[in-house]
Amino acid sequence: MRMSSLFAPTLKENPQEAEIVSHSFMLRAGMIRQLSSGIYAFLPLGLRTISKITKIIKEEMDRAGGQELLLPALHPGELWKETGRWEVYGPELIRLKDRKDRDFCLGPTHEEVITDLARREIRSYRQLPLLLYQIQTKFRDEIRPRFGVMRAREFIMKDLYSFDRDFEGLEISYQKMYNAYCRIFDRCDLSYEVVPAESGVIGGAVSHEFLVLADSGEEKLLICPTCNFSTTQDEERCPHCGTDLEEKRGIEVGHIFQLGTKYSEPMKAYFVDRDGEEKPLIMGCYGIGIGRTMAAAIEAYHDDKGIQWPLSIAPYEVAIIPINWKNAKQREVAEEIYQESQEKGFEVVVDDREFSAGYKFSEADLIGFPLQVIVGEKMSQEGKIEVKVRKNDQRWEAKKEELFTLLFKLKEELASKA
Ligand SMILES: Nc1ncnc2c1ncn2[C@@H]1O[C@H](COP(=O)(O)OP(=O)(O)OP(=O)(O)O)[C@@H](O)[C@H]1O
Ligand SMILES: [Mg+2]
Ligand SMILES: [Zn+2]
Repeated sequence: MRMSSLFAPTLKENPQEAEIVSHSFMLRAGMIRQLSSGIYAFLPLGLRTISKITKIIKEEMDRAGGQELLLPALHPGELWKETGRWEVYGPELIRLKDRKDRDFCLGPTHEEVITDLARREIRSYRQLPLLLYQIQTKFRDEIRPRFGVMRAREFIMKDLYSFDRDFEGLEISYQKMYNAYCRIFDRCDLSYEVVPAESGVIGGAVSHEFLVLADSGEEKLLICPTCNFSTTQDEERCPHCGTDLEEKRGIEVGHIFQLGTKYSEPMKAYFVDRDGEEKPLIMGCYGIGIGRTMAAAIEAYHDDKGIQWPLSIAPYEVAIIPINWKNAKQREVAEEIYQESQEKGFEVVVDDREFSAGYKFSEADLIGFPLQVIVGEKMSQEGKIEVKVRKNDQRWEAKKEELFTLLFKLKEELASKA
């Protein structure tokens, strides 16, 4: 990609409406724009990171035995009345009428819709266990949409639903998802805590939240510095070792629930078991907020100049920055590196604009390209190219012939350990 044609409208100033860094940097780096309160467009750079997180999630869902499908976003109200959530969900549910005056809503979550599919299509224990997931837009009329895509009214979620014969099966599915979630957040290079949680409106007994630690987080959690026990419940001392718990704040990026028969009973989603008996499906549900994960990564990785993307979810891996585009030699070398790096499989931009070096550097730091290849004076004089690692500001030098050895080495070092 050429920076001269990239649609990334960056902002110099801190936008007034942004209360937290991730919101501010996503706006400033030209990754998102607000259409209306809590409703955002992802621009090309923002969408690239969303797509990378999505790819990691899909790979791990598939690895755990999940199958992707896509359910409708527009739900008939009757389904929600069957489970009682038409009332329970309250004003967060966005309701509408069709031309025949029938009730509809925009899906904030999909238990009703998937259970309806399951009751019509799952007949026998032979079809179980079944893990179905989707990556989809959800709608919730949040009382306080804020922090950009972190708490939005329209947002992208991965939701998986598990169907089992019995509670032992559910335990296995739940553990698979738990492990898959750990792999996903590890691959996104995020450090997180897994805490037993209240299950709220969605219901069920066992539930865990995946929280990324950040001062701006809306969730309070208590961590034991000795044995790593963590909880969101009010407790003073660790129940395992008695140490005083430390208070931290976290961002809920993922949430998993054992639902049991909460939806299958009222919606009569039964199957015929091996013993010939009709039994309700035993369900679980598992969600990850994709936009919120992106924002949490920025909360975790930034400095005062901008974002410090982990390589695994950066919109591009490498930016090539010739400091003077009018200099024919710099331009030629930059173009060669640009071509070769694409051939070698790097995701790369070249800054082919006639702006000052300072402007180009600060924009590259704002957007947060993990590796920056600087073609400047040293190149003309000593034939050397500089490589900067955004995350720690380390600088390296290489002759052009050795540049790719260096880039591969740095890429290897930055690659997530998961
Ligand atoms: N308004 C929102 N904007 C962006 N992401 C969201 C929003 N609400 C939920 N999510 C994401 O979807 C995931 C699964 O949804 P779930 O219903 O478990 O959220 P929740 O418990 O309502 O979250 P919260 O307590 O933050 O409102 C959450 O873990 C979060 O990452
Ligand atoms: Mg909520
Ligand atoms: Zn402890």
